[in-house]
Amino acid sequence: MPVETPRLILREMTQHDRPQLSAILQDEETMAAYEGAFDDTMVDVWLERMLTRYQEDGFGLWAVVLRETGEMIGQCGLTRQHIMNEDVIEVGYLFNRSFWHQGFAIEAASACRDYAFESLTIDRLYAQIRDTNIASMNVAIRLGMTVRGRFVKHYRGVDMPHLAFALDRFA
Ligand SMILES: CC(C)(COP(=O)(O)OP(=O)(O)OC[C@H]1O[C@@H](n2cnc3c(N)ncnc32)[C@H](O)[C@@H]1OP(=O)(O)O)[C@@H](O)C(=O)NCCC(=O)NCCS
Repeated sequence: MPVETPRLILREMTQHDRPQLSAILQDEETMAAYEGAFDDTMVDVWLERMLTRYQEDGFGLWAVVLRETGEMIGQCGLTRQHIMNEDVIEVGYLFNRSFWHQGFAIEAASACRDYAFESLTIDRLYAQIRDTNIASMNVAIRLGMTVRGRFVKHYRGVDMPHLAFALDRFA
């Protein structure tokens, strides 16, 4: 760490990133697949959870920062998840809406995929994606992932059908 790409630096979030994190998690459209914008408490819990993940796992969703300006424009990284009865590692990505459609998600997520295979040496990387989230599925496909299964996640009182995308290290 940190993970770097031509335009981006990925680093651990701190409490100082809370305003930029809120700009992502409290935006209704960005959070559509998560059943809408988070309130302040949910943002606090999310951030605390990431700080714990960094300590316990050595990774989590990292801040994605523009090299040129130092501005945090998104989150992308790796988290431990339980998907279809298996403990797995997932790549996740959520970007500030002002920065969508510039290839940033692909650039950041590709670097995380490479980090997962080369540094963590895991054999399979997952992405769990709600069946309505086409933008996210297209990112997963661009990463080389294919659909491995489907399942229903119960989150915020709603049953959400999800697809499990994955890529194998030696594919
Ligand atoms: C998913 C998300 C991270 C994509 O971010 P992005 O920076 O705009 O993505 P990129 O610019 O890297 O786009 C890469 C590819 O993703 C796909 N894509 C991105 N936005 C899309 C959209 N609205 N509809 C369809 N495909 C889309 C396209 O294939 C695109 O390639 P193209 O630009 O050549 O068409 C962004 O839409 C987001 O933050 N969404 C809300 C949070 C979320 O749902 N995260 C995923 C949870 S599983």
